[in-house]
Amino acid sequence: MSRYNEVKQQLTTSPKIWLITGVAGFIGSNLLEALLLLNQKVIGLDNFETGHQHNLDEVQQSVSVEQWQKFSFIEGDIRHYDTCVKAVSDIDYVLHQAALGSVPRSIANPILTNSANITGFLNMLTAAKEQGVSSFTYAASSSTYGDHPALPKVEENIGHPLSPYAVTKYVNELYASVFAKTYDFNVIGLRYFNVFGKRQDPKGAYAAVIPKWTSAMINNESLFINGDGETSRDFCFIENVIQMNLLSATAEENVKDQVYNVAVGDRTTLNTLFDTIKTTLTNNHVLVDNEPIYRDFRSGDVRHSQADISKAKVNLGYEPKYNFYDGVEKAMPWYINFFK
Ligand SMILES: NC(=O)c1ccc[n+]([C@@H]2O[C@H](COP(=O)([O-])OP(=O)(O)OC[C@H]3O[C@@H](n4cnc5c(N)ncnc54)[C@H](O)[C@@H]3O)[C@@H](O)[C@H]2O)c1
Repeated sequence: MSRYNEVKQQLTTSPKIWLITGVAGFIGSNLLEALLLLNQKVIGLDNFETGHQHNLDEVQQSVSVEQWQKFSFIEGDIRHYDTCVKAVSDIDYVLHQAALGSVPRSIANPILTNSANITGFLNMLTAAKEQGVSSFTYAASSSTYGDHPALPKVEENIGHPLSPYAVTKYVNELYASVFAKTYDFNVIGLRYFNVFGKRQDPKGAYAAVIPKWTSAMINNESLFINGDGETSRDFCFIENVIQMNLLSATAEENVKDQVYNVAVGDRTTLNTLFDTIKTTLTNNHVLVDNEPIYRDFRSGDVRHSQADISKAKVNLGYEPKYNFYDGVEKAMPWYINFFK
């Protein structure tokens, strides 16, 4: 049996209390759904800065009444230490997702990104350490590889950050490592690589590429490719991210105080991404006649990104179940329904 199946079985027989910060966001709400379906008790914290009540409503629709009753929500801000203390009380496992994502947002407003991603992070880390939670898993980022040219990306080899956002995510890793060593605190960072799936926000100036393009194709709006379209990413379907969070939270202590790549170990260009979304929408009977408009490269973006996932496989038993194409196929019906 895979370690993931073992973990899910153990959790079902012996439920835990989880805190998900950023629970109303894309990744947080998917984690919430997965944990409630395993009959876990979950506390969620969010200030709705980029998350939505409709994400929580949708989770409520997808679980039973009894499972939904195991969820309590705190509307609050991780920049307030007292809120963090309240949220971590009696928690076994923390999955810290709350942050302001987006490289362009951080370039436009580095102070705002810093306050949520560094001050907020340190507040949560400190509150969780004081409370003595069993483990603290946090959303790190592939942006930490910065300008390091090697491919695939191996956890130990990072370059210089290329944006304020990347700085904040790297600082998270530094604090986490110091807390692990200084306070013997169980902490794992998950370096997510371009996650996608249902409930990823398609709206707004800082939307990620897959929801943004899907939305543009469904609504017949202009769609831009920054650069020549040969920029590539290791797009990772949300189900793989859920798996990594559960494996990480419940990991043995000797594989904590670590960061792990969370990806598939593959690379897809933006041109291929465009063709794949278009084909998948067409297969789902959505008429698409957009062609991309090519424009300048965007500042702060890395050219290629592909993860080496062997460390997560060896230490945590990670086995990504979905490749890029499987993920796009699973995600599209949700977007089609969202725009109906
Ligand atoms: N989506 C990706 O591809 C990706 C890649 C790398 C890292 N990450 C990281 O994963 C995490 C989740 O990302 P996501 O894609 O779900 O983004 P999201 O914007 O959908 O979710 C983030 C959530 O955090 C909440 N939040 C923000 N600031 C807060 C604050 N001060 N107090 C309380 N809540 C706050 C938002 O309201 C939102 O619900 C973030 O830490 C992000 O940096 C995401």
